[in-house]
Amino acid sequence: ESYDMGGHDTYMHKEISEQADAVDRVLRGRIDDRFSTVHLGGLNLDAREARGVRRIKILGCGTSYHAGQIGAQLIEELARIPADAEPASEFRYRNPVVDPDTLYVAVSQSGETYDVLAAVQELKRKGARVLGVVNVVGSAIAREADGGTYVHAGPEVCVVSTKCFTNTVVAFALLALHLGRIRDLSVADGKRIIDGLRRLPEQISEILAGEDEIKRLAAEYADAKSMMFIGRVRGYPVAREASLKLKEVSYIHAEAYPASELKHGPLALIEPAMPTVAIVPDDELLEKNRAAMEEIKARSGRILAVAHQVQEKADHTIVVPKNENELDPILMGIPLQLFAYHTALAMGRDIDKPRNLAKSVTVE
Ligand code: AGP
Repeated sequence: ESYDMGGHDTYMHKEISEQADAVDRVLRGRIDDRFSTVHLGGLNLDAREARGVRRIKILGCGTSYHAGQIGAQLIEELARIPADAEPASEFRYRNPVVDPDTLYVAVSQSGETYDVLAAVQELKRKGARVLGVVNVVGSAIAREADGGTYVHAGPEVCVVSTKCFTNTVVAFALLALHLGRIRDLSVADGKRIIDGLRRLPEQISEILAGEDEIKRLAAEYADAKSMMFIGRVRGYPVAREASLKLKEVSYIHAEAYPASELKHGPLALIEPAMPTVAIVPDDELLEKNRAAMEEIKARSGRILAVAHQVQEKADHTIVVPKNENELDPILMGIPLQLFAYHTALAMGRDIDKPRNLAKSVTVE
């Protein structure tokens, strides 16, 4: 990919549109069908060391932090290693306990974000092993880490990250599968995940082909002063990232909450002027998510659902193709990138360079 716009009006639109190819690239040459696993050459972590990992702590900022949250869930689900993600900026200021059996993973598109780099340097000073999940080859974080994997999203110019988010989550799925197959993930489950990963590029193209309908929906909700984004477990980081995307590019205020937390406070905000975007995967929490939508409808809230089937409780549904439960979050965020883009376009925003933001925050 070059830096030219390739016929698109903005880099954001170009980068959203490139995602099927970008995902194909992060998968290429890494799948090993013989052992139902993947090879990640740069990890510098042999099987014995991987088996010794007791915890994984993922550090990143903004969109990369959200990708890390999905990554932590994938690692827990596929590799059964306790994992969580934390903003690097917070981690490095709270004098964290650095545990020798914890593997630290720094996530960054640019590889230059100061808060992430400083966290990596502090961890290394304390003797921790740090991997990088980074897009820009040869960047400071990639150089500082003990090993890692590149996410191969290609150059991302728009300040607002889209294709790199998706590729980073896929890279985490590869890492989780790799660790899982060294530990207790069966051959059959390894194959199931590989088959799911291989379906992603085509399913992404299917989602992107629905752009006209998403544009129409964006026009319908563009009058909102504020929007609520909800999801549960796998859907929650998707909701957080979609809410950040909308805020960054359209300047519409947005809140993201676990759907389960609505009744503990944010339900007070629900009224017709505060629409909700609900992430509703067809998984073990489907009925719980439907119940949350019912609560919102009972308060006259408008609902736009992103789901695998039309949701009766919602006013509108964007239907996305179903993959394996663990991989569904990769696809469910993509229509909401287009939703944020078309909302911002309708509002005449400076899409590639939103006010007050920089592509890479290299200062504290
Ligand atoms: C992305 O939409 C944002 N501009 C921002 O949150 C970004 O993800 C964050 O600053 C981290 O950047 P990095 O991935 O380059 O480290």
